[in-house]
Amino acid sequence: MDIGIKMTRLGDSHALVTGGASGIGLAIAKALVKRGARVTITSRNLDRITEVANSVAGISGVALDVTDSVSVDKAFNAVGPVDILVNNAGTALAAPFETTTLEQLSSVMAVNLTGVFLCMQAVLPEMRKRNSGRIVNIASTAGMHGYSYASIYSAAKHAVIGLTRSLALELARTGITANCVCPGFTDTEIVATAIANIAKVTGQSEAEALAELVNHNPQKRLVTAEEVADTVLWLCGENSRSINGQAIAVAGGEIM
Ligand code: NAI
Repeated sequence: MDIGIKMTRLGDSHALVTGGASGIGLAIAKALVKRGARVTITSRNLDRITEVANSVAGISGVALDVTDSVSVDKAFNAVGPVDILVNNAGTALAAPFETTTLEQLSSVMAVNLTGVFLCMQAVLPEMRKRNSGRIVNIASTAGMHGYSYASIYSAAKHAVIGLTRSLALELARTGITANCVCPGFTDTEIVATAIANIAKVTGQSEAEALAELVNHNPQKRLVTAEEVADTVLWLCGENSRSINGQAIAVAGGEIM
């Protein structure tokens, strides 16, 4: 059924998805390809990029560590101008605040915040020249409220939302928009690892640990990566031009 959502002609677009070789990023990359975009995924793992590029037509890849400014410059120079940037690379840490170390703080901030900062700086000069572009940062419901044992992850995701809102204002008189998509607990590797960790630390079964996470969502289920991807697609649409500086929860009503 055509529900009348007018999408940007993504066939003309080059989209880049960081951390696009797995989970939510891979679902976004596949959804963008379906809309006709040429998609570059990035990963630190070249083998994984090759595996994805060989199995999904329309996706190519480049090695990139988002925390390293030299690696970011090299990758963005290699792939050329980007019309749609999806900052998806991220890492989570579950730990009580009082035992969290400075090193853990630095490393979670480096991936989740510095990575977004560096990649946005890399694409903006060309987007400004063309006066068009879409930036979508995958934050989290943890960027909109707190969760116990997730203090630095939550801090990093709150920071991404603040960064995006302020940049959106600076870009408002251009044809570029910047927004965040904020998934709730989503069925990917990050959540599988979290469930295993919770089970290990608390002595619960993995089923009990999963039930605890799912309980945050009023729909009592995990979000799917494809649901997050469709929200990203919508933000890339021509008629989403007025959506700017928003943090959009994809979480079954957990945030309202
Ligand atoms: P994932 O672990 O499959 O994806 C994370 C990706 O980031 C991986 O491909 C990983 O290789 C990449 N990455 C990590 N550090 C990197 C670095 N230094 N340089 C380049 N790439 C790096 O997990 P998932 O769930 O697909 O996560 C994607 C995004 O969604 C993350 O930003 C995460 O914080 C966010 N998110 C996930 C939720 C979930 O429940 N799964 C909920 C809310 C947000």
